[in-house]
Amino acid sequence: MIEDGNSSELKKTLNVFDLIILGIGAVVGTGIFTIIGSAIVGSSDGAGAGSAVIISMILAAIASLFSALSYSEIASMIPVAGSAYTYTYATMGEFMAWMVGWILMLEYAIGNITVASAWTGYFVQFMKGFKHILPSFIVNWPLWLRNDYRTMYEICNRFGWDVHEKMPFLHLPFGWEIPIAVNVPAIAIVLVLTVLLIKGIKESTKVATIMVGVNMFIILSFIVVGAFYIKPENWVPFAPNGWEGIFTGAFIIFFAYIGFDAISTAAEETKNPQRDLPVAIMGTLLICTILYVAAALVLTGIIPHNWIDTQAPLAHAMRFIGINWYAGLISVGALCALTSVLLIYQLGTTRILFAMSRDHFLPKVLNTIHKKYKTPHILTWVSGLVVIICALFMDLTISAELCNFGTFASFIIICIAVLILRKTEPDRPRPFKVPFCPWFPIMGILTCLALMYCKFSAKATSALYFIIWLVIGFLIYAIYGYKEKRKEEQ
Ligand code: ALA
Repeated sequence: MIEDGNSSELKKTLNVFDLIILGIGAVVGTGIFTIIGSAIVGSSDGAGAGSAVIISMILAAIASLFSALSYSEIASMIPVAGSAYTYTYATMGEFMAWMVGWILMLEYAIGNITVASAWTGYFVQFMKGFKHILPSFIVNWPLWLRNDYRTMYEICNRFGWDVHEKMPFLHLPFGWEIPIAVNVPAIAIVLVLTVLLIKGIKESTKVATIMVGVNMFIILSFIVVGAFYIKPENWVPFAPNGWEGIFTGAFIIFFAYIGFDAISTAAEETKNPQRDLPVAIMGTLLICTILYVAAALVLTGIIPHNWIDTQAPLAHAMRFIGINWYAGLISVGALCALTSVLLIYQLGTTRILFAMSRDHFLPKVLNTIHKKYKTPHILTWVSGLVVIICALFMDLTISAELCNFGTFASFIIICIAVLILRKTEPDRPRPFKVPFCPWFPIMGILTCLALMYCKFSAKATSALYFIIWLVIGFLIYAIYGYKEKRKEEQ
């Protein structure tokens, strides 16, 4: 693998600043623009942290930091463009590699359901800005056309309506006596991006820099403008659901930190990876934590926490204090940021699936390249359709939690890989070493396990889905991948 990486002769041009831009571009998105609402308010599976979401954010940052350092060590040892899938193949063999690849699908494909649902929230807020120009049926989309079934059910619960009762004001259609809800904007944006990706969209650092600029501007101005409207009484009670709420919040808001592994994938192109990778990873985590905590303080300070919107909390907060035009601006910024996250994640899904089917874990036919556009079109459709189908029955919180389960699991495996390699290959050159090994990787494993445990102990739906996902992965390997590999080796 290292030979392959060396022969690619990528230019070593990136410095700390470039890496931090890359990191912030990959990290800042749905978490701060949307998920923060669920972390504060909670969901049907558990109460949220309230204003104490800032403690949840710091906990999630600490869990990310330990694992991020392990990522850096492996990435600098195996500086091959790839992800945890590649690293695991190199260190733990094919079964673990398959399982990690399968788990990474949770991070990328299921994570995309979260981002697509968040996209709808800001799209609806954006449309509201045109209420004087556009007809009402376009501005005020019926609830059943902009929510999945679970969210629709929750909304009805919140207002004391019965989703199964045919209420004329809801205009909810029924099929075989089952109420129907379809998140149309989320499905539409995924379809558009799938078609774009098949035609071949090039990521470029320029676009990333612009996106980061827009993100930073919107979030910083939210903090500055909102600070003038803070009413400290909104912060009381600070932690309405105690430590349980804080841990639930930490599990959910962890989503906001996902993406810094993108920094470690640039190890091969970094001028001085030993020094720059850890500085960039820690710098990104520090900058994001400060931004997130400040935004959370403002959000919970300007609006009582049980009134916080879970679809577009920042824009809704601005509307709450009466600055409607600014709510519109936030929506535009959020839509740009979320679109780029969607694009990057779908590209990620396709790349990992591509690598997996090249390694005979999935049928070869999936690897077919489009004759004209030279892109893996079948895989791009598969990843788009998975998001669309799952978006029919999974809501934003469930998909974010499932994505977090996948990411925690892959972080744990990376931390274990560091510990194994320190034992089995102590003399292999390590441009970057996790400090205080084995303690930091062990802390990484323990913090991830602790956050996963709090969801398991709450018997959350996402915990059940996670187990089902692992079982399906295992079965696919046992029935298909295992035989295929053996065939190749004979
Ligand atoms: N951290 C990324 C986001 O919040 C996944 O959208």
